[in-house]
Amino acid sequence: MMPVGPLMIEHRLIEKLMPQIREAVEGARRTGMIDPDFVEFALDFVRTYADRCHHGKEEDILFRELDRKPLPPGLRKTMDELVEEHKTGRRVVGELRRAVEAYKRGEEGERGEVGERGDGAAGEAALAAVIEKLEFLAEFYPAHIRKEDEGFFLPCMDYFSPEEQAALLKEEMEFDREFVHKIYRERIAAWAEKIRV
Ligand SMILES: [Fe+2]
Ligand SMILES: [Fe+2]
Repeated sequence: MMPVGPLMIEHRLIEKLMPQIREAVEGARRTGMIDPDFVEFALDFVRTYADRCHHGKEEDILFRELDRKPLPPGLRKTMDELVEEHKTGRRVVGELRRAVEAYKRGEEGERGEVGERGDGAAGEAALAAVIEKLEFLAEFYPAHIRKEDEGFFLPCMDYFSPEEQAALLKEEMEFDREFVHKIYRERIAAWAEKIRV
């Protein structure tokens, strides 16, 4: 398998989230509510799988090695754009996280769980922000993936020998093998800080 093979397989799973997001947005528009658990799931999927695992392999392995190659200006420009798009994705994910937190605070207020009345206008604004960020991601990811799948990944493979391709694939597999351990080591360390009284 070429080193872009696992990345393209990951694209297929990332794409599966997009109709779910669109359905959640449609429901939110209809009912004026959204399931915060779904938004939390989408956030975790995008941050952990799409960004850290998938973009991690792109940036830290494939793009790192491509950067050392005499790429033509067109491919180099595309690679720069892809890196910028990853940054945009991270920014919007941060905005979505803040929006869903505001939405949840509004919901709790509505139910009186935090001892205050919900602010209808603030709740509406929080929901509108959640919808806007979700819609952005549902447009952004398919376009980003198309750019990589259709005009970038395969032409880039011409710059690697079969041996280099095998080494890249091996490094990607090693990245994946370590990934879940790394994530949970970090989470344990983060909680060790937070839980300390
Ligand atoms: Fe990417
Ligand atoms: Fe990708």
